[in-house]
Amino acid sequence: MTEALNEKIKVKPFLRWAGGKRWLTKSINDFLPKDFNNYHEPFLGGASIFLYLKSNNIIKRKAFLSDFNTELINAYKQIKQNPDIVIKGLIKLKNTKEDYYKIRKSKPRTLVNQAIRFIYLNKTSFNGLYRVNLKGEYNVPYGFKETKDLFEFSNILKVSTLLNQDVNICSDDFFSVIENVKTNDLVFLDPPYTVAHENNGFIKYNQKIFLWDDQERLADLLKQIIEKKAYFILTNAAHESVEKLFSNLGVRHKVQRSSNIGGKGASRQKVNEYVFTNI
Ligand SMILES: C[S@@+](CC[C@H](N)C(=O)[O-])C[C@H]1O[C@@H](n2cnc3c(N)ncnc32)[C@H](O)[C@@H]1O
Repeated sequence: MTEALNEKIKVKPFLRWAGGKRWLTKSINDFLPKDFNNYHEPFLGGASIFLYLKSNNIIKRKAFLSDFNTELINAYKQIKQNPDIVIKGLIKLKNTKEDYYKIRKSKPRTLVNQAIRFIYLNKTSFNGLYRVNLKGEYNVPYGFKETKDLFEFSNILKVSTLLNQDVNICSDDFFSVIENVKTNDLVFLDPPYTVAHENNGFIKYNQKIFLWDDQERLADLLKQIIEKKAYFILTNAAHESVEKLFSNLGVRHKVQRSSNIGGKGASRQKVNEYVFTNI
């Protein structure tokens, strides 16, 4: 991300999150309606777009944020309600292999301690992945990464301030968002991608997580958003099947992001993604 873009983002995600949309903040303004009432984001993840819009005063009324990952949602709720306790808890934790595995094994009983563990593991694990085994136990290895200012406490406090300004947070399946959507609201949807970009293969690891059936449910949701005369912005993979499913519901835009497939040292490639809107 360029420095110029960084300057525009006043508050940034406090987590590393797969499929994060910080790169889209540089062009999201091109897709926004002139004015909208409430804001909804049902695939919250790291919340890059919400934090960008809220900290730039583009969201002026209520926001409804949700995700079906309950641990993730608990972290937002705790940062909203108990930022000082979260920060005090994080300060005590060390970024070492030994502490990582000790904390990974722990099962805190209070919600605030569960949030502290979740944020710690997200920041110190390998690539910040979120992965649990069949028993629901987090099983990502240690990241071996030294980072100055690992948790960026001042940013956590800024996130907390924003979450206390007319923001509703809950854990739910994305379809429930419709219950609160009213005329002129804006719904930003960033689902996990089911098909790989610009090729024919389905993303294997994702198959159990977000199926093609879910993409079809998403298309049904868009129809209901349209019926309610609200706005949507949907991101998705640049793939023929995606175009077929969503094109008759709105306008399709192509956006480009850099991707460093191949890891450190590999050359950065440009990857196309789709944005669909009814704006
Ligand atoms: C691509 S990520 C969102 C990333 C986010 N926009 C960001 O910038 O960090 C997709 C999110 O959808 C959530 N998710 C997956 N299936 C879901 C479902 N059925 N209902 C609600 N959320 C779901 C995942 O937990 C994940 O956080």
